[in-house]
Amino acid sequence: MLELVRAYDSPYKYSHWLKLHEIIKRRGSGMANSDPSKSKHLTVIILVVLIGIPLFFFLLIKLFTSGTSIDTASPTMTQEAIAARLQPVGQIKIVDSAPPGSRSGKTVYETVCFACHATGAANSPKFGDASAWAPRIAKGYDALIKSALNGFNAMPARGGSPDLTDDEVKRAIAYMANAGGAQFQGPAIVAATGSAIDPNGKGKEIYQTICVACHATGVANAPKFGDKAAWAPRLKDGVDNAVAIAIKGLNVMPPKGGYTGSDEEFKAAALYMINNSK
Ligand code: HEC
Ligand code: HEC
Repeated sequence: MLELVRAYDSPYKYSHWLKLHEIIKRRGSGMANSDPSKSKHLTVIILVVLIGIPLFFFLLIKLFTSGTSIDTASPTMTQEAIAARLQPVGQIKIVDSAPPGSRSGKTVYETVCFACHATGAANSPKFGDASAWAPRIAKGYDALIKSALNGFNAMPARGGSPDLTDDEVKRAIAYMANAGGAQFQGPAIVAATGSAIDPNGKGKEIYQTICVACHATGVANAPKFGDKAAWAPRLKDGVDNAVAIAIKGLNVMPPKGGYTGSDEEFKAAALYMINNSK
């Protein structure tokens, strides 16, 4: 063992190992039934302990001090970058966030009518095709409105979107027909003041202070809040129609339900009820 160690270039490095080995040897030989392999085993154990314990602590410290190596300063970790990565694939871009009833002819065309009229599907008059639109335009604006509201052969009523108001359908017709050579004047968008009243805000507030008295439980045959079956027959001629009736009053229902504010505010309250009863 000694010769072997001396053969190394730098004996100093191993000097303490030698000493250790000598001590072990001496202790081993002093023991009863001393076995030369025993001192060898002890050397191995001591080596393992001397190298293993510092290594164990080193790894332990490393584990608790390294944290979650995410670099928050990295450009890929900004709020925007994260949000962009979280975007669903093929997200729909909402063209016009105007509330229902105040959508422009262009918006209605682009969200509903274009499905057929952009390509002329099922023999529909194609958008921008003057020769296809000429015979339609010749029928007059009112006749076209009637066709579009009620349906006409393969053309579904309201283009298949029952939530479109009459005015929205009329605007969409004017938008399409005008692109084919007509000069129809669609109904103006009065939304600026009217639909600015949020049914879920002011409308809900009015409902909760006034309409609730009869409509929450269905007093005197009032269509009950949330009761789809009770509301459906009243809405068959459109929401605007039901609201107009309620503004005038109907049997036990006093004009505007006794509400003294504006018609538009009353409408917001009615819409709050109706939207929650469909
Ligand atoms: C599912 C397909 C489809 C959609 C969606 C659709 N249309 Fe049509 N539309 C047709 C077809 C087909 C015709 C031709 C019907 C015929 O002449 O037999 C037509 C014809 C028309 C006409 C002419 C009617 C007449 O009397 O000649 C108007 C106006 C019209 N559509 C308006 C609209 C509007 C407004 C929308 C959107 C709100 C819309 N369409 C959405 C299929 C569609
Ligand atoms: C005093 C009780 C009462 C109050 C308060 C009341 N309503 Fe009514 N409402 C009725 C009754 C009863 C009917 C059904 C009338 C009938 O068909 O004979 C009705 C019907 C309606 C209808 C349907 C009209 C139709 O075309 O059938 C609407 C819309 C409506 N109410 C809205 C409102 C709103 C909005 C308020 C609160 C601002 C309100 N009501 C407050 C009793 C009330």
